[in-house]
Amino acid sequence: MTAAAWEPVYVRAAVPGDVDQLLELRVQVMAGEPVTQAWRDTLGQDLRERLGVDPDLLVFVAPGDGGQLLACAIGMAYHGYRSPRFETGRWGRVLIVVTRPAARRRGYAKAVMRALLDAFDAAGCSASIELRATDMAEPLYTGLGFTQVPSGSYMTLRPTPDRPPNQGGSP
Ligand SMILES: CC(C)(COP(=O)(O)OP(=O)(O)OC[C@H]1O[C@@H](n2cnc3c(N)ncnc32)[C@H](O)[C@@H]1OP(=O)(O)O)[C@@H](O)C(=O)NCCC(=O)NCCS
Repeated sequence: MTAAAWEPVYVRAAVPGDVDQLLELRVQVMAGEPVTQAWRDTLGQDLRERLGVDPDLLVFVAPGDGGQLLACAIGMAYHGYRSPRFETGRWGRVLIVVTRPAARRRGYAKAVMRALLDAFDAAGCSASIELRATDMAEPLYTGLGFTQVPSGSYMTLRPTPDRPPNQGGSP
């Protein structure tokens, strides 16, 4: 289906009442991680407390006719330091984009992503917006202007059984 054939997509900012459906959508991008009740409770509570309150948590949804959420995009605006390239010191990260399987290839992800990019812009984050793409989502992001950074540069420091949190990098 081409973009010209897509129906216009209605997108709105998410509200606390959307949280159960947001979790349902989020589960689809868990990539083998366990979906525990503790995970649901923690993330659910965090989203309920912050949606519409924390201006740095940017969440957009595309509801279908019956009110079921068909797609969502979740992003965070971060505060770094200012520089000539980062005039505001702000940058954005796209955390989750997902469309229900039955609603894919109809422009929903693109619509929620566009709303998220506009919100990043309004939050002063235009100098850099980052994400990690799944293979499936690469065409979506390249179509919106994202480009790949050289592979191998992305690293994380996370707690392991051998290195509990807040122990630094010492062996
Ligand atoms: C990736 C995903 C979000 C795309 O959602 P979608 O609603 O189907 O995407 P859209 O219909 O808005 O498509 C946007 C563009 O990407 C293209 N596209 C979307 N899915 C594609 C696919 N599987 N293969 C090739 N192109 C694809 C579309 O053709 C469209 O391009 P166009 O504007 O040039 O026509 C959806 O497949 C999904 O939820 N996947 C599982 C979760 C996931 O991988 N999320 C990304 C996390 S980084």
